[in-house]
Amino acid sequence: MINFKTLPQHSSSWLKGRYTLYKYKGFWNSQKFHEWAFVAHKTFKPNPSDVIISSCPKTGTTWLKALTFAIVTRNKFDESSNPLLTTVPHECIPLLEREFEQIEYNRINNNPDFLPFIATHLPYNSLPESVVSSNCKIVYIYRNTKDVLVSNYQFFRKACKVAEEEACFEDAFDEFCQGISWYGPYWDHILGYWKASLERPQEVLLMKYEDMKRDARSNVKRLAEFIGHPFTIEEEKEGVIEYIVKLCSFENLSSLRVNKSGVHSPVGSNGVENQLYFRKAEDGDWEKYFTDEMKEKIDELMDQKMEGTGLVL
Ligand code: A3P
Repeated sequence: MINFKTLPQHSSSWLKGRYTLYKYKGFWNSQKFHEWAFVAHKTFKPNPSDVIISSCPKTGTTWLKALTFAIVTRNKFDESSNPLLTTVPHECIPLLEREFEQIEYNRINNNPDFLPFIATHLPYNSLPESVVSSNCKIVYIYRNTKDVLVSNYQFFRKACKVAEEEACFEDAFDEFCQGISWYGPYWDHILGYWKASLERPQEVLLMKYEDMKRDARSNVKRLAEFIGHPFTIEEEKEGVIEYIVKLCSFENLSSLRVNKSGVHSPVGSNGVENQLYFRKAEDGDWEKYFTDEMKEKIDELMDQKMEGTGLVL
């Protein structure tokens, strides 16, 4: 097992020390998540037909899970029976490192409801070797850094029950710029998948949150094709893509009772209120938080980290 005493660690001052991250194998995470990832890393054996939904937290994971689930199950449920109406998207597609045992249990017992779609926040270089060698398809979502930083700040502040006046945003900003964030450094997370998408374009698809917002229809179509569930011409004519876009929209999902008042409680977790996964979904919300100096600093940092990639963050 991992000896946490020997690892670099950091307790966030803006979270009043209620959350401690450890750096192990090049990325930061809580002890629990590192331990779960360690087990999954050693034992997970995907089927080549599995699809991995990957992301750094706060980049649009919930949305990508909902869209993927809706695409794949579109002929299974009608407008009133779709589980997305009564279940948070995180329960529709489990997280490898946290729900590994449940995934294995479902597989062994051939659960007919179990879909071969598995989410992860693990950086590309920390994926179980079996995921890479089995040539599973991987869909990766990324998002504007400044919006991710704010989303991360608000999510953890609320999850750790720290009032906004007491949670110093400047501290959260400095920490993020040092690379210290959940599954961070954020730039390394993106660079790992970006490199993989160049080396293995048939297996790794990158999707950008802002592009999806700007043109959800084309991106849903692209996603469906990539994961092997393309829309037929008839479906396109019948407006199935538009239906899925609407079903999974922030406006729709965030207004559902389950996402307003439900709690997501996978094994080993104290539970996360579903509403924390649905905040504003606004591009550019960061402007309300950043000073000019902060903007300049993070833009410079990201330009430097992303140099030569063509990725704009
Ligand atoms: P904000 O905090 O900026 O509002 P993740 O799912 O990776 O944790 O990311 C959470 C972010 O995605 C939050 O951003 C959340 O509001 C936004 N989000 C959740 N559901 C969404 C949806 N259906 N469409 C677009 N954005 C969504």
